[in-house]
Amino acid sequence: MTTSRIPGFYNMTLEERHARLADAAGQTPENLSAWTLGGLSAEAADPMIENVIGLHSLPLGIALNFQVNGKDVLVPMAIEEPSVVAGASFMAKLARAGGGFKATITDPLMIGQMQVINIVNLHEAKLKLYEHKAELLAEADAIDPVLKKFGGGARDLEVRVIEDSPIGGFLVVHLIYDVRDAMGANAVNTACERLAPKVEAITGGKVHLRILSNLADRRIARARCTIPVKELAFETVGQVSNLPSGQIANLSYSGEQVRDGIIAAYAFAAADPYRAATHNKGIMNGVDAVVIATGNDWRAIEAGAHAYAARSGKYTSLSTWGKDKDGNLVGTLEMPMAVGIVGGATKVHPAAQAAVKLMGVKTASELAEIIVSVGLAQNMAALRALATEGIQRGHMSLHARQVAIAAGASGELIEKVAAQMVAEKVVRIDRAEEILKNFSEDFMEERNQPPVQDRENPFS
Ligand code: MEV
Repeated sequence: MTTSRIPGFYNMTLEERHARLADAAGQTPENLSAWTLGGLSAEAADPMIENVIGLHSLPLGIALNFQVNGKDVLVPMAIEEPSVVAGASFMAKLARAGGGFKATITDPLMIGQMQVINIVNLHEAKLKLYEHKAELLAEADAIDPVLKKFGGGARDLEVRVIEDSPIGGFLVVHLIYDVRDAMGANAVNTACERLAPKVEAITGGKVHLRILSNLADRRIARARCTIPVKELAFETVGQVSNLPSGQIANLSYSGEQVRDGIIAAYAFAAADPYRAATHNKGIMNGVDAVVIATGNDWRAIEAGAHAYAARSGKYTSLSTWGKDKDGNLVGTLEMPMAVGIVGGATKVHPAAQAAVKLMGVKTASELAEIIVSVGLAQNMAALRALATEGIQRGHMSLHARQVAIAAGASGELIEKVAAQMVAEKVVRIDRAEEILKNFSEDFMEERNQPPVQDRENPFS
């Protein structure tokens, strides 16, 4: 049985992490070897897109502590931004204390759109389409026998009248298609293209566009969590307003303070689109990282999320935060989640297959439930930091490592230089260089050399 609790994972070497991960997930190391081998070879990438010249890599981290619908799950996240994996893991630990994440998803229904133009009477054409609905659905249903075998297929047909547009009125036909474990774009686009001649014959118009909608509002994933209020209390060091700038003091936050701070932060996003965009970006930090790790189309997920956030006509928060009758913090997240575990990169990318194996998911719906839970955890991580000590402190230590590397630190010196900058609360390349200079004799030698342009050109 998988456990998502691996104490000390952060401090292990890469090799140790691989071994512990396979052990915790009940997998053979071979099943997860794609990650040690770099995921994808250039040869395997060549047929995936055009004009391939190589690969582009991202760090792949594992979010720990997640429990979704009573099951532990280790979550792979592909992302370049520091603090995201740590934030998700920490919030999953707090959520665990309240029973973990409860998640659900609707049937995997996608919408295919057909734009029908050049129609003399829009309302008459609309009703004619409804008169032929059964036969249109039967035709669409027969298009993909594999999907049908697994229980998918055409489910419904809806017709909308667009009265006015830059080209005048037209009809929009929505084909609702159950795509089971696929993301669904191929099945739906094929079905729309195949139905078009019949729709033209029925309406007397011309079917112009035939394409899936990324506003996948029939395929909604939902997650909620309850964080016991006492779990939210914490102590840290930081700057307080009544001390001169630069001086730090011990800070302590009660659970109630943190809870109310998170709720007030959510209220900001609920009321203001400028804040909602950033709030939802924080959710997508978690969502996209898992979507990418599993080889899914993150542009589709992004498009669906933001369109859904604006569905009322005003862009707003995808999540909500409030309290329950006992004063515990309650978070919810609802968003479209068109992800698959069959077809496309999910099938041909070895790292994506390893990700699906690690999570032990058997259906696209299970994957969607995990992803929406990670989105909620990530949102809480950002709000907790913003509502208390600010986002920079958490970011600082990881950011400091990157600055140390940029200043020329390597090996053990990375941690040493970063730790000193964090302690001093000065994370800048010039300071990193100074610290490095003090720490490293080799570095001093290198620094004492004349600037590169003044050195003798070894190739001349
Ligand atoms: C940064 O990548 C994400 C945050 O800006 C999200 C938020 O503000 O809620 C921290």
